[in-house]
Amino acid sequence: MLRVGVIGVGAMGTQHFLRIMNKINGATVTAVSDINEVRAKEVIAPFEGVRYIADPYALINDPEVDAIVIVSIDSTHEEYCLEAIKLGKYIFCEKPLSASAEGARKVVDAEMAGGKRLIQMGFNRRFDPAYEELKNIVVSGKLGEPLVAHCAHRNANYAPQYDDVIAVTGTAIHEIDTMSWLVGDYFVKAQSIFPKTSRHSKNPNLHDPQIVILTTASGMVINCEIWTNCQYGYDIRCEVLCEDGTATLPRPARVDVCTANTHYTGMTSDGLGYFAEAYDREFQAWADACNEGTFCSAAASAWDGYCAAVTTDAVLKSQKSGGIEEVPLTDRPEFYK
Ligand SMILES: NC(=O)c1ccc[n+]([C@@H]2O[C@H](COP(=O)([O-])OP(=O)(O)OC[C@H]3O[C@@H](n4cnc5c(N)ncnc54)[C@H](O)[C@@H]3O)[C@@H](O)[C@H]2O)c1
Repeated sequence: MLRVGVIGVGAMGTQHFLRIMNKINGATVTAVSDINEVRAKEVIAPFEGVRYIADPYALINDPEVDAIVIVSIDSTHEEYCLEAIKLGKYIFCEKPLSASAEGARKVVDAEMAGGKRLIQMGFNRRFDPAYEELKNIVVSGKLGEPLVAHCAHRNANYAPQYDDVIAVTGTAIHEIDTMSWLVGDYFVKAQSIFPKTSRHSKNPNLHDPQIVILTTASGMVINCEIWTNCQYGYDIRCEVLCEDGTATLPRPARVDVCTANTHYTGMTSDGLGYFAEAYDREFQAWADACNEGTFCSAAASAWDGYCAAVTTDAVLKSQKSGGIEEVPLTDRPEFYK
């Protein structure tokens, strides 16, 4: 049984904690850390045998913790990864790997120096059945080469502190990792475009919606719309244009309703619920790999986390310059192939 320590039990961390306790075979949580002691103790209260450890470093070093789940705020991921790598413990790290490309590179270098793949990134869409199906069609070559993709990532509402930086490092980063995985290519150019801003943007430092345009090494162009206060629900879209046809991400199956001369299909505002199956599958894959002493090849690695960080840095640079920025990525090292 894999003994897991969870760092951060906010919105996402609580769901991951409950997922491991209730759904994942071969893993259990033995310790939880969070700077919010009251919240952490409330979360673990219904479960016997889960300890609260105030200091995350003490949790990482705890002899009853074999593997670490990092779901604390973004700025903490890098330091906790580096500590766990020193001890050779397996890590599930929520995105981003680090708040900067430089920091992500430190983590990649430390993992390579240790000689063992320890990190699985929380890029959950790689485990979403709809995205898997879309990828299978695109990479099968039946539609010819992919040329262009249109993606949309829409959330109903976001907290007032949500700004242009988080729109990229917290939200666009999902499109960045997903599209790189889906078409099997990395990005060489990035541009950010700010259209007219919605009156629903709650922060003067948030342009909403915004567009991120990415060019891959093979020349494919991917445009991603990031709209964090669209009001109407959680909506994820992706259409890939190939030489001989297009492939589109299916919408979640919902009841089709006809009433009062109206025909509609419902939708959700709950992004974490929308991808629940993907989160379950990524955690089961992680636990299985840890128990087998290996890594899950279907999941995003630390290198993928680094690529995403280099790309988000370029998008942030473009937000300031208004121009097209280079994404300084190199080929994947042998260690991560
Ligand atoms: N993969 C996804 O789809 C997805 C979705 C949501 C969030 N996330 C990621 O999960 C992480 C948590 O997001 P969230 O929405 O739960 O945020 P949150 O603010 O609800 O929770 C963060 C938690 O971290 C704790 N914390 C803050 N500083 C800490 C520190 N130094 N050490 C330990 N704990 C600390 C806070 O007290 C809080 O409980 C973020 O990195 C976010 O990017 C990923």
